[in-house]
Amino acid sequence: MKRLKIADGIHMLTMNVEDILFEGIWEIANGVTLNSYIVQGEKTAIIDGVVNWDGAPETLFKSLEEIGVDPQSIDYLIVNHMEPDHSGWISHFRKIKDDFTILCTDRAAKLVASFYDEDKIKVVKEGDTLDLGKGKVLSFHPVPNVHWPDTMYTYERSTKTLFSCDMFGAFGRMKDHFFDDEMTPEEEAFFEFEGIRYYSNVMTTFTLALRKAIEKARSLDIGIVAPGHGPVYRKNPQKIIDDYIRFARYAEGTGKNEVTILWGSMYGMTAKAIEHAESILQREGVKYNKLHMPLNSESEAVATVFQSAGIIIGAPTYEYKLFPPVAAALSELGRKRITGKTAFRFGSYGWSGGAEKELKEIVERNYMKWDFVESVEFEGAPKEEHFAKVEAGVMELLKKMREKVVE
Ligand code: FEO
Repeated sequence: MKRLKIADGIHMLTMNVEDILFEGIWEIANGVTLNSYIVQGEKTAIIDGVVNWDGAPETLFKSLEEIGVDPQSIDYLIVNHMEPDHSGWISHFRKIKDDFTILCTDRAAKLVASFYDEDKIKVVKEGDTLDLGKGKVLSFHPVPNVHWPDTMYTYERSTKTLFSCDMFGAFGRMKDHFFDDEMTPEEEAFFEFEGIRYYSNVMTTFTLALRKAIEKARSLDIGIVAPGHGPVYRKNPQKIIDDYIRFARYAEGTGKNEVTILWGSMYGMTAKAIEHAESILQREGVKYNKLHMPLNSESEAVATVFQSAGIIIGAPTYEYKLFPPVAAALSELGRKRITGKTAFRFGSYGWSGGAEKELKEIVERNYMKWDFVESVEFEGAPKEEHFAKVEAGVMELLKKMREKVVE
């Protein structure tokens, strides 16, 4: 666990977590950080108390001591969001100290009570404040459905610090650099994609609520954005707010000026058409990504499709339906409410079609409203006429996606 000073009287404790499935689902190829914040006035508050993933609280106690905070002196535990990656310390802390107060929203209070059997809870509402002394005043601002209904921001007035919890967060481990002004261009690009991965994997189902949360953040005078995952933004806090505004647009069909090929092939017939589509993209100078399902993870597939303005789906018929790993990825995209993408599908079939029918069912069942170029299907291996149709489909996709590009 690392200890970093954010401002006078405010520290961040952060640690990397790896080799887990986030939320029990998402492969996090590059890990994730869990950030806690300590605010010290005459009284002391800890915001989002996290523990090692194995539940051991010792590193947190040790880190507190190293920044001169006796765990016994902590008066308030502020739970911005009850999901255990932000609140896991509660039951450990209760074992060593009995007289502290948990502050959270009314929705979080029910969860804290049911998950941790806690009853010393003070419910806070929009604009409520907590004066810690020595000029440190915290205010509370619920942002429901980011991405749970219980979530709130905590804002420290003297330093204009927004403790934003999941909002403005990113996957990705932090090694030596923790603040936006320390990042190299490579690290900036890394955390931009890890932010997209975080938004698309964890948050995007709630994009309408996230837009409201963005507006609430914009109503505050922010000097520092201190999220529960990923870097702290102190030089240019507007950058991560603008990124999240863009991500919310990606959820509704816009994307970077690039194509993602989401594909699978049983015996290489559909793969021949994929190769042809790639040659067209290369000829046209279009950036593209390839996601070979099921070899790539759904985390990667959701994030990469999410950020792309154009999608090519290359998948054959399998047992009268769409090739299952591609169907599963598309269903996940639908469940995540990633709508309005511009797409083109082709694929092989043997004794019967069926892939196209299931593709339409997935899109309709999930209200995805994707805009499709006419699909191309071929019996067995693709022939010259099919390659020509694939080329025409790719060119039509590139034309249609132009109006969806947002960089
Ligand atoms: Fe970072 Fe919703 O947990």
